Amino acid sequence: MQTTRLPHDGPEISVLALGAASLGSVYSEVSQANADATVQTALGLGVSLIDVAPYYGLTKAETALGLALQGVERSRYTLATKVGRYGDKAWDFSRDATLRSLGESLGRLKCGHVDVLQCHDIEHGDLKQLVDEALPALRELKAQGVIRYVGITGYDLAVLEKIAVEQQVDTVMAYCSFTMQDQRLGPVAQRLKSHDIAVFNASPLGMGLLTRKGPPDWHPGHETVHKAAAEAARICAEAGSDISRLAVQWALQKAAEQGIASTVIGSSSAVNMSDNVAALNVPIDAELLARVEAVLAPVRDLGWDVLPGNGGKAGS
Ligand SMILES: NC(=O)c1ccc[n+]([C@@H]2O[C@H](COP(=O)([O-])OP(=O)(O)OC[C@H]3O[C@@H](n4cnc5c(N)ncnc54)[C@H](OP(=O)(O)O)[C@@H]3O)[C@@H](O)[C@H]2O)c1
Repeated sequence: MQTTRLPHDGPEISVLALGAASLGSVYSEVSQANADATVQTALGLGVSLIDVAPYYGLTKAETALGLALQGVERSRYTLATKVGRYGDKAWDFSRDATLRSLGESLGRLKCGHVDVLQCHDIEHGDLKQLVDEALPALRELKAQGVIRYVGITGYDLAVLEKIAVEQQVDTVMAYCSFTMQDQRLGPVAQRLKSHDIAVFNASPLGMGLLTRKGPPDWHPGHETVHKAAAEAARICAEAGSDISRLAVQWALQKAAEQGIASTVIGSSSAVNMSDNVAALNVPIDAELLARVEAVLAPVRDLGWDVLPGNGGKAGS
């Protein structure tokens, strides 16, 4: 597995990371046995960055991940989790909640420290409270050596970029904005990198959009986007391929060009995780990609901020 180094002489991390939201049964019910197998498979294949959050499955993902990581040497993985989002519509960037949340995460994750602590989906919370309380608390934790990187995550790229640069955070995680369908993170990632900020591209499959199975019911995208993705998936299947493979290959290939540090893919399946890593070693099918790009062109960059869907959750 190819690796990149986090800023300030940080740890080497795999360019493909495991997103553990799925382990919280966000997409479908996941057993602990499946969680264990997915995590062990990912680690065995060289995946060394794992991202999770208290919000995923309302603490279920962190608990399942903590159990799956029991007995694994801590130096084998870089761990990222989040603070500030505690429900579908519940944000709290107060200092007290931030410190309490980290303590609770450490308990569930059964480890002494997290490497990257991120304020979750910042655009939905109180940005003044974020700047006045949560980020200073994270900086203190960093100074004390409890965490190594201060990060922010979200969907609104303008808000992420503004806060990241003004507040000089270490990491930014954006989601569903650097996929075969929506590529708006690209130039933003380049600018953030020039400020020495590490960028994580989460949800390269557009939260299930670019899979054979298609997006979950709660997906916030518009029906027009869903239809185009379904047609692209059909074309891939007809060609004896799988749209997920193409989407993973595309995201990883383009990530390097934009200076994205790692691409965070979600899975609760050992088989899918193996396929995702294997996809990196197979050359992209340029002819198939051209056909898929043509189908997705009319809906390119049409996120749900541009073309709102039927509601859904504000991020995952
Ligand atoms: N605001 C934020 O901070 C934020 C927002 C979104 C995501 N994230 C992070 O990014 C991670 C990834 O995002 P995500 O999980 O929401 O979306 P994603 O990675 O775009 O898609 C995940 C979905 O794709 C499926 N999948 C994965 N590999 C597959 C394969 N080879 N073939 C077919 N299906 C495949 C998974 O199903 P299986 O489980 O069956 O494999 C799951 O349903 C999250 O876990 C989280 O850590 C952060």
